[in-house]
Amino acid sequence: MAMGTRYAGKVVIVTGGGRGIGAAIVRAFVESGAQVVICDKDEARGRAVERELPGTVFLRCDVTREEDVRTLVSETIRRFGHLDCIVNNAGYHPPPQWPEETSAQGFRQLLELNLLGTYTLTKLALPHLRKSRGNVINISSLVGAIGQSQAVPYVATKGAVTAMTKALALDESQYGVRVNCISPGNIRTPLWEELAASTPDPTATILEGTLAQPLGRMGQPAEVAAAAVFLASEATFCTGTELLVTGDLDPQISPCSLVSVWSQKICLIQLQAPGLSGSCSLSDWKLWSDSRTPVFSQAADLQLEMTQEPHKKPDPSQPLLFGKTFTDHMLMVEWSQEKGWGQPRIQPFQNLTLHPACSALHYSLQLFEGMKAFKGGDQRVRLFRPWLNMERMLRSALRLCLPSFDKIELLECIRRLVEVDQDWVPGNVGTSLYVRPVLIGNEPSLGVGHPTRALLFVILSPVGAYFPGDALKPVSLLADPSFIRAWVGGVGDYKLGGNYGPTVLVQQEAQKKGCEQVLWLYGPDHELTEVGTMNIFVFWTYEDGALELVTPPLDGIILPGVVRQSLLDLARTWGEFRVVERKITMKEFLRALEDGRVREVFGSGTACQVCPVHQILYQGKVRKGQLGLTDQKPMNGCSRCKALGFAGPLHGPPPCSIQPLLDHHLRTNDSPEVQYEKRHQRMFGKRPDSSGGYK
Ligand SMILES: Cc1ncc(COP(=O)(O)O)c(C=O)c1O
Repeated sequence: MAMGTRYAGKVVIVTGGGRGIGAAIVRAFVESGAQVVICDKDEARGRAVERELPGTVFLRCDVTREEDVRTLVSETIRRFGHLDCIVNNAGYHPPPQWPEETSAQGFRQLLELNLLGTYTLTKLALPHLRKSRGNVINISSLVGAIGQSQAVPYVATKGAVTAMTKALALDESQYGVRVNCISPGNIRTPLWEELAASTPDPTATILEGTLAQPLGRMGQPAEVAAAAVFLASEATFCTGTELLVTGDLDPQISPCSLVSVWSQKICLIQLQAPGLSGSCSLSDWKLWSDSRTPVFSQAADLQLEMTQEPHKKPDPSQPLLFGKTFTDHMLMVEWSQEKGWGQPRIQPFQNLTLHPACSALHYSLQLFEGMKAFKGGDQRVRLFRPWLNMERMLRSALRLCLPSFDKIELLECIRRLVEVDQDWVPGNVGTSLYVRPVLIGNEPSLGVGHPTRALLFVILSPVGAYFPGDALKPVSLLADPSFIRAWVGGVGDYKLGGNYGPTVLVQQEAQKKGCEQVLWLYGPDHELTEVGTMNIFVFWTYEDGALELVTPPLDGIILPGVVRQSLLDLARTWGEFRVVERKITMKEFLRALEDGRVREVFGSGTACQVCPVHQILYQGKVRKGQLGLTDQKPMNGCSRCKALGFAGPLHGPPPCSIQPLLDHHLRTNDSPEVQYEKRHQRMFGKRPDSSGGYK
């Protein structure tokens, strides 16, 4: 191992150094030239690290036993003569427990370990650290600041470690001893994995842990270790700091938006006030309009006018046609350049009154979203990943120079609307409540320009299967390259009404030729881009022999579908086959069909969820494969999707526990992205300011 000089000649004690973050810290300090005493109460683990890293010394020590800690310090001094740094890493995170399951004794034991263990070593080491003007590094946790469900004792101990760090830093500054702490977020350690294994669905927990960071991954122990070496060796003017190693924004200081992992992948917009310098490097930055980014009125101001004439709900024994029936209420909010957003209203479902020159009617200044609420077998109503729709909607609004809005507030208004009309959410298999938010320019003028008036409304429609018959019945496609849905530099990746009207004729062409949907091709290589109003997936053995699920990349002509993203997220967690976003050309697709390598082709979208494809009409010939495309059996991918929780939306409560990750519960258990936003608001009381950014 190459020895560095960053902390050469220094002596460091690392508690809990036998594994995980502790072992990584030991390794990093050894690499920086320090002499390291590994302290762990597990002899086998500590010795293993000692053997791996020559020059380290293992001393068995249980930090909850003061005698052990005394011996640890005295033995370190006896061997090395001085002490420069202690890293209080020993700690434990008990398996999830609700408050009523928490015993006082268990709480006390955790305090003994996580808090008092840290204090005891610090106290006993201080006389030596004062001599060397050394430093203390406490390993705290992000949850100490933001909380964590089912972890009261753990959160309490870690919050206390952070607080203790600050207090101690004040007391010790007179001696030149620096005291700092590191608060890791989700770091993939053996303890993390053990904890995940103790949850009802470990895979889901790991996925949740992975997606919690905007960086889209968990941290590595070595990354925490690097922070520790930095604090010890270079951060010589830092004391009392809490260094977050979380793959996340610092909730206390960041002026940035609360960009979740979804937005990273999908729309990359920051809710940052225009004009603020700094961290907004994202491609859509230029879309922020100058003075016209008012904030969507607060959901707290929502006015509610209940209908006096409730409509008859659809007969559950009759099929529900897509988009033909509407609920009793709608959400309505007006915007004007002078006044900004008005008060949002939930009002009886009613016609709109529009000026005949309304810009939405003339110039397609119109955008919409499509999302769904489902009733599970437990009768609870859930919105499916609504956050992604809010992100996409805001992105569309900015593209059309329609007013910006606060995604959280709009989502809360939609939640309230669904709650008001929750009796309309059908409960039969294959049914759901389709939620259609719409934003239109309402400029009463024939000039083409950015509207000074806009209208945002949301209507709800109980729906059955999108395609008549079985939702999983495969469809046939017409692939005719003379029709182009979207092009590079165009707006195909936004959900704008203008993208859809012109496709109706092509859909008719397809039907005339006996096909149900259009396979949209693009470019000289006839790239497969989308299927009707769905994203396309191919599950095949690729030319290099690898089994893979492939979908075209978000290169500007593909709509960033919520279901597309969900399928990718899920398939990536299985690790069973390669999951790629790559262009698919008709040539390579036909070659694969001929070789019998195509297992299945399917479209994904909110309306239909997952829709198998069984044949494609291309250049006058019907193309069927040998496997998935020929037989009409439910496709593997679909059964997979079902197994993965799409069965939830389609068929009652999800059989597997991706549910907490993917669903936004109407009353409790917000999805992680919403928790994330709420967390910030709760912790720091931040509301979007009048220019659309966070203060
Ligand atoms: C063109 C197009 N592609 C893909 C999709 C699928 O998107 P999502 O999964 O968000 O419904 C839609 C949905 O309406 C669409 O219109």
